[in-house]
Amino acid sequence: MKRAFTAILLLALLTTGAVVAPSAASREPVRARHGIVASVSEIASKVGVDVMQRGGNAVDAAVAVALTLAVTWPSAGNIGGGGFMMIRRADGRTEVIDYRERAPLTASRDMYLNEKGEVIKNASTVGYRAVGVPGTISGLALALSRHGKLKWADVIEPARALAAEGFTLNHQTVRSIQGSRELLAKFPDSNRIYLRDGKYYEEGDTITQPDLAKTLTRLKEKGPREFYEGETARLIVDDMQRNGGLITAQDLKGYEPTIRNPLKGTYRGYELLTMPPPSSGGAALIEMLNVLEHYDLARMGWNSSAELHLLIETMRRAFADRAEFMGDTDFVKVPVAGLISKKYAAEIAKTIASDHATPSENIRAGKPVSYESTETTHFTIIDQEGNVVSNTYTLNNSFGSGVTARGTGFLLNNEMDDFTSKPGVPNAYGLLQSEANAIAPKKRPLSAMTPTIVLKDGKFVFAIGSPGGPTIINTVLQVVVNVIDYGMNIQQAIDSPRIHHQWMPDVVRWEPMGINGDTRAALMSIGQKLSDRSGFIGDAHGVMVEASTGMRLGASDPRLGGAAVGY
Ligand code: GLY
Repeated sequence: MKRAFTAILLLALLTTGAVVAPSAASREPVRARHGIVASVSEIASKVGVDVMQRGGNAVDAAVAVALTLAVTWPSAGNIGGGGFMMIRRADGRTEVIDYRERAPLTASRDMYLNEKGEVIKNASTVGYRAVGVPGTISGLALALSRHGKLKWADVIEPARALAAEGFTLNHQTVRSIQGSRELLAKFPDSNRIYLRDGKYYEEGDTITQPDLAKTLTRLKEKGPREFYEGETARLIVDDMQRNGGLITAQDLKGYEPTIRNPLKGTYRGYELLTMPPPSSGGAALIEMLNVLEHYDLARMGWNSSAELHLLIETMRRAFADRAEFMGDTDFVKVPVAGLISKKYAAEIAKTIASDHATPSENIRAGKPVSYESTETTHFTIIDQEGNVVSNTYTLNNSFGSGVTARGTGFLLNNEMDDFTSKPGVPNAYGLLQSEANAIAPKKRPLSAMTPTIVLKDGKFVFAIGSPGGPTIINTVLQVVVNVIDYGMNIQQAIDSPRIHHQWMPDVVRWEPMGINGDTRAALMSIGQKLSDRSGFIGDAHGVMVEASTGMRLGASDPRLGGAAVGY
């Protein structure tokens, strides 16, 4: 009886076009008066809050959280990788610190091909030759110097102490290490540190990382350039030379992060600040939102077959464009303005049929005028003043290349796989990419990382981001749509089931319990190809400000056991 009534009520609301939040169970967001950190690691989130309570701002907290995640979430938290930090100051000034890895100077277009021109299996994903020049320390230091209040030595100390004194491994961290045993066992320092030479860690064990503590001590005492020109650089380069890696002293010394303006878009009266190239994420996000603006999603109904079909068709088209056009704009021309124009979106919308799927093989990139193990990690922070940081950074795949350079205690990325090894041949994420993302010295590999901030009438509403390779873009898209179209709070928007389509392969990924059997059948009846098995997609962490009270609302994704902590 009660269910029947609810159904009738929902139907009535839907037919009047009212926005209906889903009834699916979800925690309340964490509420705090002053500041919040939402990350995959409760320890790291607490470190960030502690930094703010000691007088630091969101950027001080962000640098401390990023360094702490390198200790407590080693599959993706890092100092041997790179990422993007979007900072919006309370006064509205916004900038992005791009600390993406770069190809080493001796890298070349065909470096992962054999003499027959075929891609050499695992060459761009495993081991020393897969490593891009790391940008994390340089990017964090730049963010701190431009926006922080505390000293480098102060924000690095919590991570150093956790590496030296140890911390208790939770279920998720043990599971992530176990999931990468085969990779980590290939490299002696990784095998010793994360696999205890075969005496595997279990949940509740304490892990200490003395080599990493020594590295962090050097960085604390000598400053961030130590990574690029000091003993740490020497250790990396020596290990590269012993093992056929490309990174030289010159590569490390020459690494510089880049300051960028965010890419801007609008969606139903909200303003989006998101990630420009070398990420494809922001452009694809805006392109998709521009298309969705042509439809009344709320009327279609959240997670209805009509809404999911529309999302899939939109994703399919934006990812075809991503494959064709996107790369590092310091090296190639990318028609960003065209891709994010409302006019282009109107053209795309005309090609979407409501009653059948368009097979991906029939989709080619459009003509705008003028990419798991899918590891990476995202955290979002807001402080007392209203400064916001939305940071996504990565080793690429889980535990990166698997390499811990001897004596350093930290993992090195395999970001070189984010380049196109050979146009037309899919990378580790199954993504097809073009010449625009070919390998060249110092070039940044194309990313999908999409740290995003959403405003209304110039005021901060929420900030979000996620790991997950190409699924990042679609995770951010669905959180934005859940908040704006369906009126969900930030926790509901993150908890809700997601889907993912990336043009090729032509398959819709979906989450366990994410789409009911009837809806799956309806989608398949109009030609959508759903993956045989479901699996989790993304790990989003966000903060929001409650307009009526100014309270900070924080939400951490339940998928990997993260935590939002406030004060
Ligand atoms: N390595 C994942 C990304 O940058 O998109």
